[in-house]
Amino acid sequence: MFLFDLFFQTTTEYQSFNSPEVSDCLFSSEEDSSLYFTYSGECNELEVTNLHYEVDTAAQIPWYEKLSEFKLPWELKGDKQTAINDLSLRVRSGQMLAVIGSSGCGKTSLLDIITCRDEGGTMTSGQVLINGKRNTPQLVKKSIAHVRQDDRLLPHLTVRETLCFVAKLRLPTHFTQAQRDQRVDDVIAELRLRQCANTRVGNDYVRGVSGGERRRVSIAVQLLWNPGILILDEPTSGLDSFTAHNLVITLSRLAKGNRLILLSVHQPRSDIFQLFDLVVLLSSGSAAYFGAARDMVPYFTALGYPCPRYCNPSDFYGRCKNDFIGYF
Ligand SMILES: Nc1ncnc2c1ncn2[C@@H]1O[C@H](COP(=O)(O)OP(=O)(O)O)[C@@H](O)[C@H]1O
Ligand SMILES: [Mg+2]
Repeated sequence: MFLFDLFFQTTTEYQSFNSPEVSDCLFSSEEDSSLYFTYSGECNELEVTNLHYEVDTAAQIPWYEKLSEFKLPWELKGDKQTAINDLSLRVRSGQMLAVIGSSGCGKTSLLDIITCRDEGGTMTSGQVLINGKRNTPQLVKKSIAHVRQDDRLLPHLTVRETLCFVAKLRLPTHFTQAQRDQRVDDVIAELRLRQCANTRVGNDYVRGVSGGERRRVSIAVQLLWNPGILILDEPTSGLDSFTAHNLVITLSRLAKGNRLILLSVHQPRSDIFQLFDLVVLLSSGSAAYFGAARDMVPYFTALGYPCPRYCNPSDFYGRCKNDFIGYF
């Protein structure tokens, strides 16, 4: 029993009890393996100012489906919906910014606008600046790694094969094979994928690594080319709480290694919330709060809306769309 407790106190690693690494974990601290994949490039800054984004929901209905309305094309009115309203934020290297809020509040839209992948909408005002320059697809490709919510990986390759394949395609041509292999090993170590490195990735139909491991492979694919800015859309969705917590710990370590991390999370647990440096709380596309994560509860308490005892702040304030819309 003592050994069991000691294991969980000593390490937060997601390890199997049969793994040979367990004995190492028992007697080593978290610090030993961390931060050797530090980003050594220049500091980055991401700024969004007064962003207003509208989507035309009517434009997505094909013209032939509208024929039933017996109207000529110029008589059809667009159906505009505001997805993001007057949003401003700023984050720089070394910080982890979490975009939190209920489903449909505009988290994915925001990340897609930043990475120039928004479709079906228009930015009516505001701008997105990466190191003071407007975001263009070329600039985004050079400086930002975007991990989307769905894992787009080849199911029949193993984790190591996937990474070697991407290393061949994505790393600069002057890299030697030995350097590419070294980079793959570094990423596998950084994202704790050693135990499943030779397992097939799999998907919904092909059994492979676990869901949490597959999410980490998606992150590893992006981390391979050592980006300074990492953007992740709901990286913890679909994961159990223990794996989700470990994943955010990994992201927090990456942020401390001089990276800029921007992620969206749908109402995180309180232990995950504590790991964030900055938080944007979105409510129907508007920012209800932007600032340090630890100041969020005092901010709302000062406004007269304290978080009830034993209640998770992101659960409580994340409901603002439905319950508190009047006062935010
Ligand atoms: N291209 C689009 N076409 C139609 N509606 C969209 C589009 N993009 C976003 N929306 C709408 O904007 C809102 C925010 O969507 P989204 O950013 O995906 O929310 P979240 O990721 O927070 O769940 C939703 O109501 C969604 O229906
Ligand atoms: Mg989303």
